[in-house]
Amino acid sequence: MDEALSAQESIFLNIKDPLHRFIHGIPKAELHVHIEGTLEPKLMFDLAKRNNVALKYKTIDEVKEAYQFHNLQSFLDIYYEGANVLITEQDFFDMTLSYLQKLNEQNVLHAEIFFDPQTHTERGVSFDTVISGINKALDIGREKYKVSTKLIMCFLRHLSEESAFEILEEAKPFKNLIHAVGLDSSELGNPPSKFLNVFKAASDLGYVSVAHAGEEGPPEYIWEAIEKLRIKRIDHGVRCLEDLNLICELITRQIPLTVCPLSNIKLAVFNDMKSHNIKELMKAGLIVTVNSDDPAYFGGYVAENYLAVCEALQLSKDDIYTLAKNSFLASFLSEDEKNNYINRLDNFVNSF
Ligand code: HPA
Ligand code: ZN
Repeated sequence: MDEALSAQESIFLNIKDPLHRFIHGIPKAELHVHIEGTLEPKLMFDLAKRNNVALKYKTIDEVKEAYQFHNLQSFLDIYYEGANVLITEQDFFDMTLSYLQKLNEQNVLHAEIFFDPQTHTERGVSFDTVISGINKALDIGREKYKVSTKLIMCFLRHLSEESAFEILEEAKPFKNLIHAVGLDSSELGNPPSKFLNVFKAASDLGYVSVAHAGEEGPPEYIWEAIEKLRIKRIDHGVRCLEDLNLICELITRQIPLTVCPLSNIKLAVFNDMKSHNIKELMKAGLIVTVNSDDPAYFGGYVAENYLAVCEALQLSKDDIYTLAKNSFLASFLSEDEKNNYINRLDNFVNSF
């Protein structure tokens, strides 16, 4: 056993296949995951039973069969329906803790996690219930698994800016638990500029900003997110390759992309993984990271996303190292924290 590795990292050295071993063991961060998208079918069933919520499906296999999407909206319809089983603080706690266990199994040391409060407050579940359940699990994750986390509160872009303002107000008592605001849900027809005022208000309150843009939407949406919402990171952003000036701007401003390969295939952003543009994004000089988005719906957590792109596009070990290093560099951690994690990453790679 190499002294430079943690006990946890040494466990990964037992994985037989070298690529799996490297990908599972390499220290990394996840910067694009929706906590509601980590709700596994088994837990969905357990919570439906516990809360007496009727589900459309009779068995877990039926749920899995329903996960055939042809675009973002066809996924969102099922994703919001799944979220109906989340009622109590314990439900949010259980869901979050099982995600943190997954991070530990894949040596993900840091996660910046989206939550969608409007999905729950619109159903009569209080903001307090949602964030308290999530936060209690994050406390345990920090102690038990040593995983650091930050929360990003997303505004649902299919709702009005007024509704976003209401949730920003409701979040005020919990300001110390939330690092950033984001923008998710149905992209086409809901450009970032629709939320100009609420992002300005969030920035005045001290929140950092990110936004989903350029997943299904055109490069103009990425421009708007940068110039109007003044975001620090673009979620997805894969359509930036259609606009050379935009690529230059993202590089000049050092704005990273949180790419979610399995999500992009499941939602038909690309036909198959071999057609994914992640290699071109990296070659163009962009700060690219690999993330899971909604792992319970798209067939894999972070490690499975790395594996899928590596296998389809023959990424090298150097590429994997770059992606893992970018995941820390693109995070909202302090410089010291970033350096600390990158040292651990370097130790792992040097002893491999
Ligand atoms: N895009 C937009 N909204 C979402 C997504 C996504 O990939 N996942 C959950 N909400
Ligand atoms: Zn997303």
